[in-house]
Amino acid sequence: MIPRPVEPINPFDLHGRVAIVTGAAGGIGLAAAAVLARAGAHVALADIRSGRVADAAAGLIAEGLGCEALRVDVSNREAVDALVADIARRHGRLDVMVNNAAIIDDTSPLTITEDVLDRIHGVNFKGVVFGSQAAARVMIAAGSGSIINVTSGVVDVATPGVTGYSTSKAAAAQYSRGLAMEVASRGIRVNTLAPGWTDTPMNERHVLREDGSVDEERKAEYVAMRAASAPMGLAGDPLDQAYAILYLASDASRFVTGSVLRVNGGATMPW
Ligand SMILES: NC(=O)c1ccc[n+]([C@@H]2O[C@H](COP(=O)([O-])OP(=O)(O)OC[C@H]3O[C@@H](n4cnc5c(N)ncnc54)[C@H](O)[C@@H]3O)[C@@H](O)[C@H]2O)c1
Repeated sequence: MIPRPVEPINPFDLHGRVAIVTGAAGGIGLAAAAVLARAGAHVALADIRSGRVADAAAGLIAEGLGCEALRVDVSNREAVDALVADIARRHGRLDVMVNNAAIIDDTSPLTITEDVLDRIHGVNFKGVVFGSQAAARVMIAAGSGSIINVTSGVVDVATPGVTGYSTSKAAAAQYSRGLAMEVASRGIRVNTLAPGWTDTPMNERHVLREDGSVDEERKAEYVAMRAASAPMGLAGDPLDQAYAILYLASDASRFVTGSVLRVNGGATMPW
């Protein structure tokens, strides 16, 4: 029997939808903003680096896409509330909230300081809470919406080298599950994307020269080493994560909430 076509014909179509992506000046956030906009959404690219995010949005606008750039520090509740309220007021809706902004530390469980803990958790955990709450207020009133919180493969494994990062991501993952349960009956879906190692500016900190520029030779070796650590032998591209975000943002995932989507070439399978 040939299955009956389902409506809409293209469940990935986002025309008429409005999305916010935090941490969209580069890396996975910029790729996600581009993919959501190419699927038809109006996308607000938000980042603490106002110049970079303005340039990023200008590139997408030059492609004919519906985008705008806004500065936000996701660790500041008032700033996040103001960002979301501004988008909802000007566009009359908010369909997709991608809480993607994050920072990383290189600290051990034995020596991490209170300052580092506060700084990393302020962005990676509280930023997710603030973004989710502000979006949920708009979405509850509308009776629909998709919140996507970007965590990491580190939530599945012991990672003593990035203590603030891994603990903040685990907190964000657990928060997302609780929120998903709380708002499920109100038409709002909350899912977590757990990327594996992906080639973005965040990971270039390991291959910088003294002057801060990227050593491309060392970077190529580093990427190859990371690729070899995944069963598929691949390193992630920001677009791999962006397409997963498109799935979670769109009606294609209308029956999916409270999930952790692991996009990592199988890296966490052994665990
Ligand atoms: N790259 C990877 O291998 C990898 C793996 C797992 C998870 N992730 C997650 O994917 C997401 C994107 O990471 P990425 O690799 O693209 O990193 P990235 O460093 O390239 O991008 C992060 C962006 O967040 C912005 N940002 C930082 N602090 C902010 C703040 N307080 N307010 C607003 N914006 C802020 C930065 O300016 C930057 O543009 C993060 O949540 C990260 O933890 C990445």
